[in-house]
Amino acid sequence: QSSHSAAEAEGIHFAAAVQQNQSDNQEALPEPPEAMDHERSIMIKRIITYGTFDLLHHGHINLLRRCRALGDHLTVALSTDEFNKLKGKSCFHPYDDRASVLEAIRYVDRVIPENTWEQKINDIKSFDIDIFVIGDDWKGKFDFLIEHCQVIYLPRTPNISTTYIKNKLSLQTTTTHEYGETD
Ligand code: CTP
Repeated sequence: QSSHSAAEAEGIHFAAAVQQNQSDNQEALPEPPEAMDHERSIMIKRIITYGTFDLLHHGHINLLRRCRALGDHLTVALSTDEFNKLKGKSCFHPYDDRASVLEAIRYVDRVIPENTWEQKINDIKSFDIDIFVIGDDWKGKFDFLIEHCQVIYLPRTPNISTTYIKNKLSLQTTTTHEYGETD
């Protein structure tokens, strides 16, 4: 969305520059927007990361912030509910809700569905990805992607995970009900 409006702004700028140039009766015209777009796309560093991101927590935010800091554009491939089942995970928030939360985060530029283990090489090629990033709980697991892009395993934020939150909440619920403190 932001690159679209930037391109639009660039187009307006270009039109204004042509007008200015014509009225000044100068020889050299500015480069057309397509040429500028091409130059810019060479310079943009694109990052991709994969995950479930259920019950979003500060470990997720740390990961996304560090991903985005490695480049200019971050794609998050978000595990679908079906793919999570395959991984043995069950989410509290369904895919559409998890996607809308991620899309609202300033470090995230695009969310795509992660449907299979095998889609990564195709994603890297079709989105022109420079760096694949994931937490170091996956260390070594995606080294086979090195021939397609850079691969970085970031240290996980300690003492927090979705599983931890779920366990904590279920314990609290049990305690509450056992002692009848609240309904
Ligand atoms: N992550 C992280 N630090 C944490 C938790 C997660 O850096 N404390 C990273 C993971 O390494 C992964 C991404 O966040 O790259 C998404 O992880 P995900 O599996 O969705 O989150 P978890 O909290 O690990 O979920 P679960 O407990 O269900 O495994």
